[in-house]
Amino acid sequence: MSQFWSPIVHDLDPYVPGEQPKLANLVKLNTNENPYGPSPKVLEAIRLGVSDQLRLYPDPNATQLKQAIADYHDVDMQQVFVGNGSDEVLAHIFHALFQHDAPLLFPDITYSFYPVYCKLYQIESQVVPLDDNFAINLQDYPTKNAGIILPNPNAPTGCLLPLDDIEQLLKRNAESVVVVDEAYIDFGGESAISLVSSYPNLLVTQTLSKSRSLAGLRIGFAIGHPDLIEALIRVKDSFNSYPIDSLSISAGLESFNDQDYFEQTCQKVIRSREWLTTELIELGFDVLPSAANFIFATHPDHDAGHLALGLREKGVIVRHFKHERINQFLRISIGTQEENQQFLTVLDGLV
Ligand SMILES: Cc1ncc(COP(=O)(O)O)c(C=O)c1O
Repeated sequence: MSQFWSPIVHDLDPYVPGEQPKLANLVKLNTNENPYGPSPKVLEAIRLGVSDQLRLYPDPNATQLKQAIADYHDVDMQQVFVGNGSDEVLAHIFHALFQHDAPLLFPDITYSFYPVYCKLYQIESQVVPLDDNFAINLQDYPTKNAGIILPNPNAPTGCLLPLDDIEQLLKRNAESVVVVDEAYIDFGGESAISLVSSYPNLLVTQTLSKSRSLAGLRIGFAIGHPDLIEALIRVKDSFNSYPIDSLSISAGLESFNDQDYFEQTCQKVIRSREWLTTELIELGFDVLPSAANFIFATHPDHDAGHLALGLREKGVIVRHFKHERINQFLRISIGTQEENQQFLTVLDGLV
């Protein structure tokens, strides 16, 4: 605390990212990273980009990257916005589109950055509880709102909403922006990008951090009506003209050119998720149905906090949230088969 702080800083409640441990040899299943490295083509593009050309500023509009994303998703480039990770894209969305005379709506159990942005940008919000099975019920969302945001699949539950439910919401809720945060959609869901041309109030965000293994580069994007994209560009150009550096532009672009690698790694993660789910059920866990690269599990006879500590002592880190409705759950990111096996072996000794 300091007398020099602006008043708003006193009230901030910053997001706490999952631990990035300094210790080597840990089995790190706590931040939903991809256990497989980026495509070799991506690594080659980065190597080629390390040159004298780095003295130049990057393209402020990341035009080539936007075009690759537009081509991949079969939309116009004017419907695409890119940012430094989808966290930055989301921050601009909150700033540009959610400050109105009604509360922003999101689930009570969801990505914990949403309430943080609300404080930062002084946006009134209202949480809508998940149902007893930890599913989002879109019928519960009142139409008087400044906007609606939800991840699909939801985080940290992994539960997926069918596209039809999202379309029903869009039909009912035409007066404010609906954001579908699809950070994990490539692990088994159907993207709402196909609805963007029919619903001018729909914005879909995605990231290259998870399914494309590029969390370290920070690239995210939004797809929506050009009017919504223009709002984001106005905020971006009032904040940082060059959010994506030259290496990230080339690497991101290349990741869309290696479809085989992308599909193979997603399939490996999906297969491991299904296998791990079965194994956890055999150990007595209840596991929520996941369409993401993590699973959310609880054991009726063992405290989740104790289990997380026990795992940590044996070199395995998973995520445990203190929120009262989910404090008996562990969120386990899918690792390589070897990591998943190590995790299970340690867990077997604790339950
Ligand atoms: C639901 C959700 N949205 C967005 C993000 C942000 O991803 P990034 O900033 O790496 O693109 C995450 C990261 O974990 C997430 O879980």
